[in-house]
Amino acid sequence: MKVEKVALENFRNYTSQEITFRDGLNVICGLNASGKTNLMESIFVAAIGRSPRTKNEKEMIRMGEDRAFIHLLLEKKFREHKINVELSKSEGKKINIDGASVSRLGELIGLLAVVYFSPDELKMIKEAPQERRRFLDLSLSQESKPYYVALTKYNHLLAQRNKLMKSVDYAEFSTTAFIWEKQMAEVSADIVIKRREFIRKLGVIADEYHRRIAGEGEDITLIYEPCVEGEDRETIRANIEEKLEESHEKDYELGYTTVGVHREDFNITSKGIDLRKFGSQGQQRTAALVIKLAEIEYYYKESGEKPVLLLDDVLSELDEKRRTALLEATAGTQTILTCTEFTENVAEYNKIVISKGTVVK
Ligand SMILES: Nc1ncnc2c1ncn2[C@@H]1O[C@H](COP(=O)(O)OP(=O)(O)O)[C@@H](O)[C@H]1O
Ligand SMILES: [Mg+2]
Repeated sequence: MKVEKVALENFRNYTSQEITFRDGLNVICGLNASGKTNLMESIFVAAIGRSPRTKNEKEMIRMGEDRAFIHLLLEKKFREHKINVELSKSEGKKINIDGASVSRLGELIGLLAVVYFSPDELKMIKEAPQERRRFLDLSLSQESKPYYVALTKYNHLLAQRNKLMKSVDYAEFSTTAFIWEKQMAEVSADIVIKRREFIRKLGVIADEYHRRIAGEGEDITLIYEPCVEGEDRETIRANIEEKLEESHEKDYELGYTTVGVHREDFNITSKGIDLRKFGSQGQQRTAALVIKLAEIEYYYKESGEKPVLLLDDVLSELDEKRRTALLEATAGTQTILTCTEFTENVAEYNKIVISKGTVVK
């Protein structure tokens, strides 16, 4: 798929600006603070419905203004789509797809699929499990609507269970929590099965890239760390239900749910070594890079379309070999890349120069 055009109005440091993109590689050049990350953020918001860098959505409205707009024209295999996001100080966020307003984020997510890669993602490997779960959830939610639905439902049920333990005494909690736990176990089983399959498939692709970049014999292995044992759906479901019940006392004492899919992780090893803990910075960066490249291919294999690759300021963080590998792997994928200076040896690309929120070339 392809982002054809983005028009921004009062978004961050943009007043009114339209930017047209081409197939293949689009390079956004500009000095620091010119608005490169802001542009990437706007595309992410049109894809996911929220910002990759802030929870405070009003922050994205240009200072001194009340409303911001992102208009995005998307070309997919069979048709074009118009995505409009309006951010208002008084009314919050409104999303509109092809002229119809959208009340749930689930209707937006997956329409424009993006793989987002910034220096923050380069740290994904060594960060806390939460960062790796965020990656799993974002990637899977774009590819699979049922996954997104299950995850949303799970988060709601988890909040209900946590709320219950704070509002009643232990005896009541331990006798009524099953109402939430039964449903949590159901949706968790779907989440576990999907995550397991994703990590397995992603691992195979990442391993190929890794051997290519790091050298023959340099494997990478992704290992899912599920919250319970079990192969088939029913075993997983039953095990989760049992675990939740077993943890009543501990959870009540601590005031939150200590077991479940919201605590899962996956391990990344090379030659049997846990890269999360023992990888060098170089190894961790390579791992993050190959996982992101694998994400593009995974999405393509599952959906038959290439996602749009957003690379914010990552070239300067990678050495030449890895930069070349990254740019080679983007062939056939619309890529929007930002940098302060582009010196790569690439035959053809669309160069866009930004200065202070304005396209100057
Ligand atoms: N809501 C806002 N209103 C006006 N300017 C903003 C807003 N949010 C951020 N900016 C400005 O945007 C600039 C940073 O843009 P950014 O896209 O992060 O730069 P870079 O090109 O280095 O990636 C800063 O000058 C900052 O002050
Ligand atoms: Mg930036």
